[in-house]
Amino acid sequence: MSDAWAQLHSHRNEFDDVSLGSLCDAQGRDDQFVHTVDELVVDLSRHLATEKTLDLLLGLAAERNVTGMRDAMFSGEPINTTEHRAVMHVALRNQSDRPMHVDGIDVMPDVRDVLARMKTFCDSIHDGSWQGSTGKKIEHVVNIGIGGSDLGPVMTTEALRPWWVSSVRTHFVSNVDPSHLADTLATLNPETTLFIVASKTFGTQETLANAHAARLWLVEALGENAVASHFVAVSTNAQRVNDFGIGTMFEFWDWVGGRYSMWSAIGLSIAVSIGFERFEQLLGGAHRMDMHFRNSPLEKNVPVLLGLLDCWYRECWNCQTRAVLPYDQHLLRLPAYLQQLEMESNGKHTRLDGSQTTHGTAFVVWGEPGTNGQHSFHQMLHQGTTMVPCDFLVAACSETPSPDNRHEILLANCLAQAEAMARGRTLEQVREELAAANLSPIEVDSLAPHKVMMGNRASTTMLYPRLDPAQLGAIISLYEHRVFVQGAIWGIDSFDQWGVELGKELANNILPGVLGDAPPSGDATSRRLTEHIAAMRAE
Ligand code: F6P
Repeated sequence: MSDAWAQLHSHRNEFDDVSLGSLCDAQGRDDQFVHTVDELVVDLSRHLATEKTLDLLLGLAAERNVTGMRDAMFSGEPINTTEHRAVMHVALRNQSDRPMHVDGIDVMPDVRDVLARMKTFCDSIHDGSWQGSTGKKIEHVVNIGIGGSDLGPVMTTEALRPWWVSSVRTHFVSNVDPSHLADTLATLNPETTLFIVASKTFGTQETLANAHAARLWLVEALGENAVASHFVAVSTNAQRVNDFGIGTMFEFWDWVGGRYSMWSAIGLSIAVSIGFERFEQLLGGAHRMDMHFRNSPLEKNVPVLLGLLDCWYRECWNCQTRAVLPYDQHLLRLPAYLQQLEMESNGKHTRLDGSQTTHGTAFVVWGEPGTNGQHSFHQMLHQGTTMVPCDFLVAACSETPSPDNRHEILLANCLAQAEAMARGRTLEQVREELAAANLSPIEVDSLAPHKVMMGNRASTTMLYPRLDPAQLGAIISLYEHRVFVQGAIWGIDSFDQWGVELGKELANNILPGVLGDAPPSGDATSRRLTEHIAAMRAE
């Protein structure tokens, strides 16, 4: 174990008798633990951390060369070493004049060129100059993609619902389960529907199967010639797009990881939903957070601090999961988006040098919008046997004005949950309360232990004035860089995803047996289940 980790492990023992409530109350806590990036307030005061913890974590960051890794990313070095690729999603939202180089070539002209094409396309959908094959205006856009070609766009589109352009509705189909496409198309008219087939590789089984099914639906209604005006593609692979028969393609590049691609043409469905100008505001917010990550000293660098705290809990507190609790209905899909971002990036056991990691990596990320979670799983967050660090996200102002005080109720609940987790309620407090409520001493004795809340449960609160495109861009960029910092500390390649390949290969091997074109294949269990499937389907 390295020096920095050893010191952190021994420092962890100092928390055995520490009360998070008193840490929060300490004078000057906010100076060190509350940070502001533009209008985003990131309150870290409810973390099981002291000044010494931060010093030790910053020592760990120095030992792991986090700044060197960060600078290598911004310089376009091939830090995705297993795929020999640069990691340059930051170039996609670079709104400065600064060139961004990959392999010695400034990628910014190409980035701007595609953005300009996206703008023209969006405008033509909105003003009706892009027409379907029968001359009708496009009213529905269906994004067909999965993983990074779906989650960022669907999460963002949902989050920015108040900014939707009224003349067009976007829909997202990801699952190869035929119900997903069928349910989506059920109310749509082929004459007014356009499909965006979004796939970095244009080789993903689920996406191509859905795209073929959508094409059939269209061609059956409008004929083969309709494809040109009802299908566009977003990909890095022009040849495959061409082979599929789509003439209009928006390009992106292999230095954009799938789960980091919503800022590229993969975000076309977002731009169609909210208008191109607002898509640019989304990019602008992300760019400002990029600059904060690139230029701020580490002790004030919010993605760095969050990533380090994540490693602290994962390693020294043995936390396995982290909850993301948006007190923001429009961030409904944020937990799902972050599951890919964090778990596909850092759910790995092999280090960059090929050795096996001796540390736990990646949290299981999960969550639901507040206040729904309060009436479901918060019981465990408050009184369960393991600590689950939580991210609370909330806007001071709602985009949905209500004459009553529902947004204020939401805000109060958000603050209250984090406070309850941090401070809990002691046995003495409970006993006093029960006695004051006139329970008999016997009743007090029997009920009190059940009402004790241990407290000392860590959380981050992210508070922003309103969830507008720029603010959302900043929040997502913050999470991306937080994941980067985790990966740098753990010494893993956060930008590959080899772990998804075996399942894809096995599915291809098993499919002929399920189709009945070949004997069942796979291992004994898969073969037996395939036989059951065949028997059930024959009934
Ligand atoms: O499941 C693995 C994965 O490669 C993800 O990383 C990616 O976002 C998704 O599949 C979709 O890939 P594509 O955009 O190439 O269709």
